[in-house]
Amino acid sequence: MSPEHPGLSRETLVVHGSSRSDQRTGALVPPLVLSATFAHGNEEQLAYSRDRSPTWELLETAVAQLEGAAGAVAFASGMAGIAAALDILPMRAEVVVAQDAYTGTRDLLSHLSSTGRLLARRVDVTAPAALEEIGDAAMVWLESMGNPLLSIPDLRAWAMAAHRQGAMLVVDNTLATPLLCRPLELGADLVAHSASKHLGGHSDLMLGVVAGRDPALVARLRQHRTRQGGCPGQLEAWLALRGMRTLAVRLSRQCQTAYFLARALTNTPRVREVHYPGLLTHPQHRLAEEQLEGGFGALLALELAVDAEAAERVCTSTRIWTNATSLGSVESLLERRGRWAGEEYLPEGLIRLSCGIENQEDLLEDLGRALAQVGAGPLA
Ligand SMILES: Cc1ncc(COP(=O)(O)O)c(C=O)c1O
Repeated sequence: MSPEHPGLSRETLVVHGSSRSDQRTGALVPPLVLSATFAHGNEEQLAYSRDRSPTWELLETAVAQLEGAAGAVAFASGMAGIAAALDILPMRAEVVVAQDAYTGTRDLLSHLSSTGRLLARRVDVTAPAALEEIGDAAMVWLESMGNPLLSIPDLRAWAMAAHRQGAMLVVDNTLATPLLCRPLELGADLVAHSASKHLGGHSDLMLGVVAGRDPALVARLRQHRTRQGGCPGQLEAWLALRGMRTLAVRLSRQCQTAYFLARALTNTPRVREVHYPGLLTHPQHRLAEEQLEGGFGALLALELAVDAEAAERVCTSTRIWTNATSLGSVESLLERRGRWAGEEYLPEGLIRLSCGIENQEDLLEDLGRALAQVGAGPLA
């Protein structure tokens, strides 16, 4: 249920929350407003498209409703939103960040640390002792699901610990989406999304959204966007709105497929470990059951007992799965994560799978054949 729309579930809200049928024409699909400027004196008090745009505002309202936020601000990409959220902090403020946070976030924080703008400290956010390590940090930066090992931090415990120390908690909710997890309800101050992933859902746009509980904080983010110009394109915002209408059905199927594959690949030759929060073997499975609703996500990671070259061979010999980065889209993607700078800490044979909406048996068969080439998986 959504607190703003009692009686309406989020599955219904994703379909109707962003659509406002046009009174004059009856059009069900919101218009794509491309105008960069607006005639003074209009009813909506729109002036210039770097400040406000009717298309972004529909998207922002839809995300805010789903996250239970006071408001949301759309940005040109997930990273633009993340950069804006970090820029709220004063000079040389300290940020505690999940050690397995998205590489782009870690890279930005390292850069900001190297210039003296901020000071970043990486911690294992699944270790209870880390809750005592916030110290004088001004912000804690977590992801509702770590990537690619799908670690699950205890968001409620982190929110309490952060607030006790006077720090703000920001949660990147890209992997879980507000359908599976709502960090603001668990105490977070801001939620960040790369809408280029699940919310858009079709690998055809770059967009970010940051939502918050405090209207003053949301206003600061909006002001940041106007000043710095990190605003999204109108078409991208419109595509994200369109994509979000099918989020519930896509995600539900993707979660089912991920669970099916995780179970089918467990205890098969040369598969050292399947990382998926839905499995009993996942270190935070219990917490995942409590904190996530309706599924354990669309991503899983396969740790193969093979070298980098063999793992790359698996990734390049599938028919349906595409060897590409990114996640959360309708088509299934896989890649060896160790290929990226910043991911060297991962086992060289670790492959991340982002499940799409194809037939799950087809996906298993395709993957099984690719794995069998290196003596791994259910067909080996
Ligand atoms: C968890 C997470 N957050 C943020 C981002 C950055 O988003 P974008 O690529 O839209 O800038 C990504 C991109 O992969 C991501 O996976």
